[in-house]
Amino acid sequence: MCGIVGYVGARESQPVLLAGLARLEYRGYDSAGIAVVDDAGKIEMRKRAGKLAVLREDLEAHPMPDGHTGIGHTRWATHGGPTDENAHPHLADDDRLALIHNGIIENFSELKADLIAEGYTFRSETDSEVAAHLVGREYRATGDLRTAFRNVVNRLEGAFTLLAVHQDEPGVVVGARRNSPLVIGLGEGENFLGSDVAAFVEYTRSALAVGQDQIVAITPDAVEITDFAGNPAEAEPFEVSWDAAAAEKGGWSSFMAKEVSEEPEAVANTIRGRIHDGVISVPELEGMDDLFRDINRIIITACGTAAYAGQVGKYAIEQWTRVPVDVELAHEFRYRDPVIDEHTLIVSISQSGETMDTLMAVKYAREHGAKTLSICNTQGATIPRESDGVVYTHAGPEVAVASTKAFVAQITALQLFALHVGRVRGTVSAAEAAEHARELESLPAKISQVLENEQAHIEQLAHWMADTRSVLFLGRNVGFPIAMEGALKLKELAYIHAEGFAAGELKHGPIALIEPGQPVFVLVPSPRHSALLHSKVVSNIQEIRARGARVIVIAEEGDAAVLPFADEVLRIPLAEPLFEPILSVVPLHIFAMGLATAKGLDVDQPRNLAKSVTVE
Ligand code: M6R
Repeated sequence: MCGIVGYVGARESQPVLLAGLARLEYRGYDSAGIAVVDDAGKIEMRKRAGKLAVLREDLEAHPMPDGHTGIGHTRWATHGGPTDENAHPHLADDDRLALIHNGIIENFSELKADLIAEGYTFRSETDSEVAAHLVGREYRATGDLRTAFRNVVNRLEGAFTLLAVHQDEPGVVVGARRNSPLVIGLGEGENFLGSDVAAFVEYTRSALAVGQDQIVAITPDAVEITDFAGNPAEAEPFEVSWDAAAAEKGGWSSFMAKEVSEEPEAVANTIRGRIHDGVISVPELEGMDDLFRDINRIIITACGTAAYAGQVGKYAIEQWTRVPVDVELAHEFRYRDPVIDEHTLIVSISQSGETMDTLMAVKYAREHGAKTLSICNTQGATIPRESDGVVYTHAGPEVAVASTKAFVAQITALQLFALHVGRVRGTVSAAEAAEHARELESLPAKISQVLENEQAHIEQLAHWMADTRSVLFLGRNVGFPIAMEGALKLKELAYIHAEGFAAGELKHGPIALIEPGQPVFVLVPSPRHSALLHSKVVSNIQEIRARGARVIVIAEEGDAAVLPFADEVLRIPLAEPLFEPILSVVPLHIFAMGLATAKGLDVDQPRNLAKSVTVE
């Protein structure tokens, strides 16, 4: 939530900041703003409610002097609505200092009351302006931005990344982080700061991940890092593995369209280097075998789509490792008294690696003695750094707010993990692992087949259904989390009421929702694997059909049993049951995108949402 960027170097800063904000806009798009120290040594600031395009238009119509040091912010509103006044940056110290913030300052009310009592006036309703005035006040007292930050950060409770520039220190951007992300981009005679590497990947792929409770000051030629007490500290270096082109739309109508088309590649890249001649070997998991032998329980924790990936993963992990698995929404996990100990492995899943609820669950688990492993798509992110181990998904940058290619990559990574642990614990034989490995390797081509064969059909269907007000999704077994994923995508993209149910649960209540014409997607499991499960789902279809539902079936090629009861049939290639979700979710991603497009909605930036949810 909220994207921040900082720049210092020889370039004009405005184009760099605006390009960075464009890449970070997925983090929030309620307002955007920039501040630069201009060549006359004065702070210039412009901020506007609305998407970045509004700010750009304003800057084009009324250009602002430029300079070589600046900060930029794209906001997801928490405290105060999406107005010009509440947009960042916030000015302080007689408009000589500009500050931006990502996170929530939980004790802002008390701090604000103290500042008001001292005579400070506030121009916004944000918690962030409190930090601006506090840093401004300390700057007046000390004349040094780094010291001013040091004197303020320990007074702030909650989560924050702060960046500031002061006109009396041109050529310096100072930042601090606690529980919110901050990375440094290292250039030649220039340096960058960003919420993530997308902010600067166009200029450099050499990066440093700023640690928890660190203060950083960048100048064109140096990066200084200290802890909050001022002691020298180090940030973790890493190379960004993708280039700027990967985060561009590249001719697609939307990032989401591009990312759905990249689902085959996301799976292929997540497998790459981890299967050799049928042998599964995940280098990141090497050295953890004693742990995998020792555990007696796994808890998967995540939010949203990542949690649905976890629910699919549960089936694979339990089947192949015989270790019991629970899946917990991260925001629920630490607010009860979960039973965990050193024999519990917490597997967190997060595309961004910054989801605050998931991060807090991981921290809680570690503090209570459990071991932690993260499945993450973003290098240098906080959650993997706070975990004992990480398996990266290699889906590439996911920009659209709705998670798609990361989802199939997360399931793939969970399957690799499950097979690895199964081999270590002796619950999967070498021959079985090789067979599953072959199946995994076949998936990218099968996803491509779904895209080639069904995309046009599904888009047509979505177009016909543009006026639909409610859609239901049914699945059993691994199809159940996919039903919920299909419903989530439709809610967040097309603003349509949608629910995913376990098909067996239908007769316990939800069937009352069925009335003539009600569209229902049904995920039909393969009859080749379980005739019983298949027949139960076919019965469920008949039950809803008898009550007038319009039935859209997702079934494997050749399954003729569904034909008499389906209004539409979407086909997926044959796959082993545990791998089916990676194929059956693809039509649902296409459908949600198609319906949102048919309604004329912005599929990349749906209302009220942000990609990276860095507040609890
Ligand atoms: O970055 P994460 O994977 O931790 O994000 C978790 C959820 O916020 C995310 O999956 C969200 O539900 C998506 N918007 C769904 O498309």
